[in-house]
Amino acid sequence: MDINSIQTQIETDLTKITSLAALEEMRVKYLGRKGLIAELTSSIPGLELQQRGIFGKQVNALKNTLLGLLAEKEKTLISKDSVLKQSNLDIGMPGIAQELGHIHPITQIIDEICTIFNRMGFSVVGGPEVETEYNNFTGLNIPLEHPSRDAFDTFYLKDYAKLLLRSHTSPVQVRVMKTQRPPLAMVVPGRVYRPDAVDASHLFMFHQIEGFLVDENIRFSDLKGILEIFSKSVFGQNIKMRFRPHFFPFTEPSVEVDISCIICKGQGCSVCGRKGWLEILGAGMIHPNVFKQVGYAPGVYTGFAFGMGVERIAMLKYGINDIRLFFENDLRFLRQF
Ligand code: PHE
Repeated sequence: MDINSIQTQIETDLTKITSLAALEEMRVKYLGRKGLIAELTSSIPGLELQQRGIFGKQVNALKNTLLGLLAEKEKTLISKDSVLKQSNLDIGMPGIAQELGHIHPITQIIDEICTIFNRMGFSVVGGPEVETEYNNFTGLNIPLEHPSRDAFDTFYLKDYAKLLLRSHTSPVQVRVMKTQRPPLAMVVPGRVYRPDAVDASHLFMFHQIEGFLVDENIRFSDLKGILEIFSKSVFGQNIKMRFRPHFFPFTEPSVEVDISCIICKGQGCSVCGRKGWLEILGAGMIHPNVFKQVGYAPGVYTGFAFGMGVERIAMLKYGINDIRLFFENDLRFLRQF
């Protein structure tokens, strides 16, 4: 029998095979004990002496080709079998789309505000949420018995009487000034903690952004200019600002800064409590006692500082009336940003 025609026959046989069982039948037909290859091999001794070697080699080559073809076919049948048949997978079914998440609205506002200050030359720094009592209070000119400690009083860490959860980001002023010399221009975003009862405008944890600039000859008008650029970038070029006298132990003079109500444009509405103004942050010129605490020689440097609540800014910007919405992880709320 002609070896070449056998090979062609094998190839056509293979194309007809669609199951592992049929493939096994075919293997027996060719490679079994009474199969074609065995038959060909047993015919060798009957051949002419010169023919035996040549024919033997041809049969061997045919056997190897056949083994390769069978193995290949088996692989394709197995993969088809297991994926499509055994698991009942329907490859025509629509897939499950991966949902892409996005950045939390509070983080978005933090990024936006930090970018605005960054463009004005402020660098962005962080600080720990567990602070020393000194950095949170004493270093900021809030002595132990000062009544304003009450307003900020906070969570103390058990067993570590002098450690607490910071009640504002201002302690980072102390950290930075203790280790670096002016000129300093920084913004500090981060979490702060206060033992407030939770309601629509209070949480025991929220975010602040602190800002401060210290150098020679820094004036209150510098503070006003910087804050005007900031508020117009966030709330729009048409808003008005006003500075109201206030008290903070770590700034003198101190102010609270309002913008004209973005809802009623200053006419008076329910959002601004009919005042026409919305408070957005506290600020002032850094108190000389703070410079003294951090070891700056008196009278050399002046500077300003400000601190704002990020949730409050986000609530005003987006017209949100309940601070708890930010942290309930309700996707119907979060997806809107
Ligand atoms: N630390 C103040 C607060 O939490 C805000 C503030 C910061 C005020 C810097 C003045 C200067 O209320």
